[in-house]
Amino acid sequence: MRTPFIAGNWKMNKSPDAAVAFVREIAPLLDAIDGIDSAVCPPYLAIPAVAAAVAGTKVGVGAQNMYFETSGAYTGEISPTMLQGLCRYVILGHSERRALFGETDEGVNKKILAALAHNLTPIVCVGESLTQNEAGETQSFVSGQVRAAFAGLSDWQAAVCVVAYEPIWAIGTGRSASAQQAGDIIRTSVRDVLTDLFGSDTAQAIRIQYGGSVTEGNIADYMSQPDIDGALVGGASLKPTFVDLVRSAVI
Ligand code: PGA
Repeated sequence: MRTPFIAGNWKMNKSPDAAVAFVREIAPLLDAIDGIDSAVCPPYLAIPAVAAAVAGTKVGVGAQNMYFETSGAYTGEISPTMLQGLCRYVILGHSERRALFGETDEGVNKKILAALAHNLTPIVCVGESLTQNEAGETQSFVSGQVRAAFAGLSDWQAAVCVVAYEPIWAIGTGRSASAQQAGDIIRTSVRDVLTDLFGSDTAQAIRIQYGGSVTEGNIADYMSQPDIDGALVGGASLKPTFVDLVRSAVI
């Protein structure tokens, strides 16, 4: 019922030239894989060239962040109107933005509403730290992040969103959560919370990704979990083997 979705978060990697050369290589191969959606999220500067390079394929393009205002005196920021038409997706509330750049639940919620108002699909990131995980606080913390992120959304707005559950301790560390662990948290702390907020039909329509050290070697395990609909992939999305990862995600 939910089409699986794998997105590559390139973070602060690849110049515009390198980005275009890379997507020219992988886009035709990704385009040929049926039964799954895929997207790449390059740095802002590479987005126009990457969007042009993937045009005519089913590969989507996303931004890694966005400000919620449409224009004005916000030095260094990029607005939803600037992304609209170039991108289909925008990653919001990534743990690196929360930890390194002071993003709050409230700001993430404003960005989600702004993205939806401009026909962008938010990829809403949530996830607990190692300390919270070890203290047994995962469920309460992640549920709280989901409630805060989705505050004020209508059912149809919520249904458009993608959620990425990314335990912070698993990002870039090679220490991935087990598929069972990730599947359980996604069910209890994301899908069940969305059901409580928006009802079962809407919650069942929302795609939920796992993220954190996902590779072509472990993606199939995650996809075998009923509530995991794909992955947000960092390091493994920078290499041509990203195509193998996407292929292995189709069960
Ligand atoms: P990783 O990053 O796959 O390199 O762990 C995931 C992410 O930060 O989205």
